[in-house]
Amino acid sequence: MKTQKFFIVILSVTIISFLTLFSCKKESSKDVTNISAHDESRSHNAGQNCMKCHDSGGEGTGWFSVAGTVYQNDKTTVFSNATVKLYTDANGSGSLKYTINGDNFGNFFTTEQVDFGSGLYPAVEGSQGTKYMSFTVKTGQCNSCHGSSQDVIWTE
Ligand code: HEC
Ligand code: HEC
Repeated sequence: MKTQKFFIVILSVTIISFLTLFSCKKESSKDVTNISAHDESRSHNAGQNCMKCHDSGGEGTGWFSVAGTVYQNDKTTVFSNATVKLYTDANGSGSLKYTINGDNFGNFFTTEQVDFGSGLYPAVEGSQGTKYMSFTVKTGQCNSCHGSSQDVIWTE
């Protein structure tokens, strides 16, 4: 009887340990791929700095290297399906290093590894042209400036 009880306890502990281990693995977002695409509607929290949650230690699905929100010229309505590009030189010159397709909710985001090197120039393409940021960024947390210390990112 005693050994049987002991065996049951050991078995339960083993099962619980395994369950905990696997559920923890699932929660860790580090290796999750989460990349925006045109016409998709999976994202949320437009205008917020996505990396508050989608970064090391955060609970957001996937840790983003670049993310933000694009608005229309009224600066309050989101602009669906914008395209964000990162260039090595100003005004769309040099080489195009990365392209991120914005979604239905105005958001663009990627978990792709992005090497900012000595800095990259952001550009945002709408349906009537492209807007260029005049200096480089070394961070992809676009909404950490835009919509906070800066005007929102917008296009037409
Ligand atoms: C306050 C924390 C927080 C912020 C800020 C945040 N997220 Fe999330 N995000 C989460 C959490 C938690 C999940 C997973 C649960 C869920 O889907 O709600 C998630 C899930 C997602 C998903 C996956 C949905 C799916 O299952 O396909 C996308 C896409 C996403 N976030 C995009 C963004 C974008 C883009 C931003 C910034 C504009 C952002 N998030 C800002 C917490 C956040
Ligand atoms: C460190 C703060 C900061 C970060 C981070 C930042 N920006 Fe900017 N951005 C600015 C400032 C300041 C301006 C206005 C001066 C200028 O046009 O260069 C600007 C301007 C722009 C413009 C031109 C706006 C116009 O009216 O023509 C675009 C487009 C833009 N940013 C996109 C982005 C994108 C995309 C990201 C993320 C990859 C980003 N920015 C990250 C500060 C920032």
